[in-house]
Amino acid sequence: MNVADLIASRVASLQEYAPEPLEETARRLGRPVAGLIKADANENPYGPTPAALEALAAYDQYHRYPDPISRQLASAIAEYVGVPSEHILVGNGSDELIDLILRLFRPDGPGKGIGELIDCPPTFGMYGFYGATNDMQVVAIPRRADYGVDIDAIVGHCKGDCRPRILFVASPNNPDGQLLPDEVLDRLLALPLLVVLDEAYVEFAGGSRASWVPQYQNLIVLRTFSKWAGLAGLRVGYGVFPSALMPSLWRLKSPYNVNGPAQAAALATLRDLEPARMVIEAIKRDRDWMYQQLQGVPGLLAFPSTANYISCRLQVGTLAELRAHMEREGILLRYYGGPGLEQCLRISVGTPEQNRAIVTALEAYARNEMRSGQEQE
Ligand SMILES: Cc1ncc(COP(=O)(O)O)c(C=O)c1O
Repeated sequence: MNVADLIASRVASLQEYAPEPLEETARRLGRPVAGLIKADANENPYGPTPAALEALAAYDQYHRYPDPISRQLASAIAEYVGVPSEHILVGNGSDELIDLILRLFRPDGPGKGIGELIDCPPTFGMYGFYGATNDMQVVAIPRRADYGVDIDAIVGHCKGDCRPRILFVASPNNPDGQLLPDEVLDRLLALPLLVVLDEAYVEFAGGSRASWVPQYQNLIVLRTFSKWAGLAGLRVGYGVFPSALMPSLWRLKSPYNVNGPAQAAALATLRDLEPARMVIEAIKRDRDWMYQQLQGVPGLLAFPSTANYISCRLQVGTLAELRAHMEREGILLRYYGGPGLEQCLRISVGTPEQNRAIVTALEAYARNEMRSGQEQE
């Protein structure tokens, strides 16, 4: 038996997700890890709150299985978002919940399930990825040139054939940083769609719609502790779900999906919110500072963002050269390409010192390119 020949065919089209570990990047660039500015994954440069770090230091239940349904944490989250805890399910990052939602609806018999996922690229790649791993038909309805959701195209698609579908939409969207307007969400919710609103970055923007969930049958809101709370490495996200879905979600989820230290750290963060709120305010202030600075960099078009990152389009030189230049300075950014993101890069907001270094390095590259362009003319 050749075991590799038996692998399901859907796997062949997937890409391995294995970004270079930071230690290897540091070795490649000839710098210590501490000498790098990591602005490529929208992480929180300040890390967990003091209370979360204390809870982790005091944690002594490593030999015990954690609470499978994260009761204490779910009830603290319910208070934080302002919905009853019966609507909350905690996951191993919001990534796990994207997968769980799709497993809940993947068709397994005539008339059962939802077969189609609507994705609105450019956006977070995991919707399409988990759609493919769950055998969903993934239909891309691209955003407009200004990165707004193409609501008329979505309405047209749904009206043409009114079978129910699942639509994923991030607000703020990654990578442009725009919020989904209320009127667009209203129009989506009026369609035969299960709308999954991914609010991974909403703490930096304000205006969460989590409290809308109890009023709708077809709205799920996903949130996470990865960004505002600095807990990306512990993997804690949560969903706010319509009550009709909860019993089935409890049956389907992996038993010990959120580990004990992760539950303890997230709970401690919520019990002492002030330090996290101060960090959020600092990041927002520094994002606005960075946006202003980037607007002054020639050959760079910065997109206004409500999140903890700013995306830009490079109008001089090439992304490959820019990347080499930034890496020589020890700066790691996210570089794109492909439809809607040609010549685009995304910068995660760091500490003020890191932000200054990023702006200075971008400016040096752009000015040099502008100068050499003019010399050639
Ligand atoms: C829009 C969006 N949703 C979800 C996530 C993942 O969140 P988590 O760490 O909770 O899995 C990210 C991470 O980059 C993201 O950009």
